[in-house]
Amino acid sequence: MQTGPSSPASIVVLISGSGSNLQAIIDGVEAGTISGQITAVISNKSDVKGLERAAKHGIVNYVLDHTEHADRESYDQALKTLIDQHNPDLIILAGFMRILTEAFVQHYEGKMLNIHPSLLPKFKGLHTHKRAIEAQESEHGCSVHFVTPVLDGGPIIGQRKVIICATDTEESLASKVQKEEHFLYPLCTKLFTEGRLQLTDAGPTLDGIAIIEGGLDLTNTDDL
Ligand code: GRF
Repeated sequence: MQTGPSSPASIVVLISGSGSNLQAIIDGVEAGTISGQITAVISNKSDVKGLERAAKHGIVNYVLDHTEHADRESYDQALKTLIDQHNPDLIILAGFMRILTEAFVQHYEGKMLNIHPSLLPKFKGLHTHKRAIEAQESEHGCSVHFVTPVLDGGPIIGQRKVIICATDTEESLASKVQKEEHFLYPLCTKLFTEGRLQLTDAGPTLDGIAIIEGGLDLTNTDDL
């Protein structure tokens, strides 16, 4: 039986770069729509904009440099130790460009979310916008899912879609999708911190009702 998050929920955000999704979640917390507090931001890279964003909002932030660790196991062990100092209810992967070990993922099963820039299960991995255009897809988007040991393969919670136009380039499509990410991730974070979103043995649920395979279509849904 899974217990709900503490109130306010402790949220730890992992980043590697710009942190625009981190910013969207900071904004949700500051606006009071997300009933939690970001207790730490951790980056595996120094000098990234996401760290500046955290500092600007007075959020404790760390660089845990993967190049200073001998292997993936020792890095993930150090990361786990650092995260757990903040007693997290929720771990948010927001552009954290690391493949995680199975032991690490299992430790946070049911309380770690990721955002991926495609309509999963399509286009797992990198260069999703370019691949969607090359595949002549008519639509594309983003997905938030629970993290499991299968890369980009955990149960999908929700998606937001965009139309691919004939004039779209990789850059224009990336920008359209990111705009949607900034609604989707805060919304899923809010639902989780309110204890409404859970991962059960039978799959993800919202308000105790099973989420359909492939996730909820949350296009144009800014609140629930
Ligand atoms: C986003 O596009 C997200 O889908 C992917 O990494 C990117 C992170 O962007 N996982 P940002 O650092 O949040 O701006």
